[in-house]
Amino acid sequence: MAASIMNNRQPIAAVQQFFANPVRLLAPMEGLSDPLMRQILTQIAHDLGRPYDWSVSEFIRVTQHLLPAHVFYRYVPELHHDAKTACGTPIHIQLLGSDAKLMAENAAYACELGAPAIDINFGCPAKSVNNHRGGSVLLDEPAVLYEIISAVRQSVPAHIPVSAKIRLGYTDTSKMDDIRAAIADSGADWLTIHARTKTQGYKPPAYWDKIQSFNTLTIPVIANGEIWTAEQAQSCMQQSGTSHLMLGRGAVTRPDLVTRIDTNHSEKNNDADNTDSVLSWQALIPHQIDFLHGEAKNDIVLIGRYKQWLAMLTKGYSEAQALWQDIKREKDKATIIHALKNSTH
Ligand SMILES: Cc1cc2nc3c(=O)[nH]c(=O)nc-3n(C[C@H](O)[C@H](O)[C@H](O)COP(=O)(O)O)c2cc1C
Repeated sequence: MAASIMNNRQPIAAVQQFFANPVRLLAPMEGLSDPLMRQILTQIAHDLGRPYDWSVSEFIRVTQHLLPAHVFYRYVPELHHDAKTACGTPIHIQLLGSDAKLMAENAAYACELGAPAIDINFGCPAKSVNNHRGGSVLLDEPAVLYEIISAVRQSVPAHIPVSAKIRLGYTDTSKMDDIRAAIADSGADWLTIHARTKTQGYKPPAYWDKIQSFNTLTIPVIANGEIWTAEQAQSCMQQSGTSHLMLGRGAVTRPDLVTRIDTNHSEKNNDADNTDSVLSWQALIPHQIDFLHGEAKNDIVLIGRYKQWLAMLTKGYSEAQALWQDIKREKDKATIIHALKNSTH
């Protein structure tokens, strides 16, 4: 591996500030935590008194050229507003690609457009992406991981953080030591680990204990994967040895999850009859209506997106189950909003 650039760098002041306390992040999720969902979920967390420290955009794919500004603005409309959602949660920009030079150029441009930080995706399991040497397949090539992160680090202004998001490996965990060494040398400012291999997909369990060995790095480590309840968040912190967490599908299913983790809110049960929510169904209704009034290509897309969310909410709220039965075939937005308003009784 080429000479370490990490050894020659001072830690960025902002990074030390970011991680002075345990961070709570909303995960990047293509097609799920899009700008509208980010807007709604960050607002809820903010209103409940435990805002997300930041969220990360869906991955922007870098393949052949410098992407035009409109692509960055499409994925991250928050760039028009200081790269923050309406309630002030920063959005970092995630890039995915295998060409180090091109990744570096795009990262530098994203910073010119106002990205507060760049995250690099080494976790995507999609065949269409992996077949073009992007995402998790690069975990099999730690030298390329190093090349990409260090090229991006060198091209981005020194005060802007660069992070990486990985899984434990591609088909298995045999390359973990090499991956860790590559990250250590690359100059990454922090590392997020989805505690599964690509082959393990999104199925439980997540192997939080495997994150432990990355704690020898001098940079902060963020644990991710399979956190659906406050109890699981505690177990994850214990087993991984890090207090920094990124929440994915659990944050969409239970929009108050981030609050529960840090308020020691007792979690008596984890099923849909959970009456112990910090955010009641009643209080969640206006946020769902906001979602249904949000921006989308058209109403069909918006309703499809809402149904995707409602289906996830059925895991956390019994009222959502009844509403789901009522509207799952409904195509009219006004009718859905009407049913939603009446869904408390
Ligand atoms: C629908 C979906 C889309 C995702 N898209 C991305 C993405 O664009 N970038 C990324 O780094 N991870 C992506 N992920 C992975 C999540 O960020 C996270 O690592 C994973 O879901 C594990 O966390 P969870 O078990 O809490 O959901 C995606 C996950 C899902 C379910």
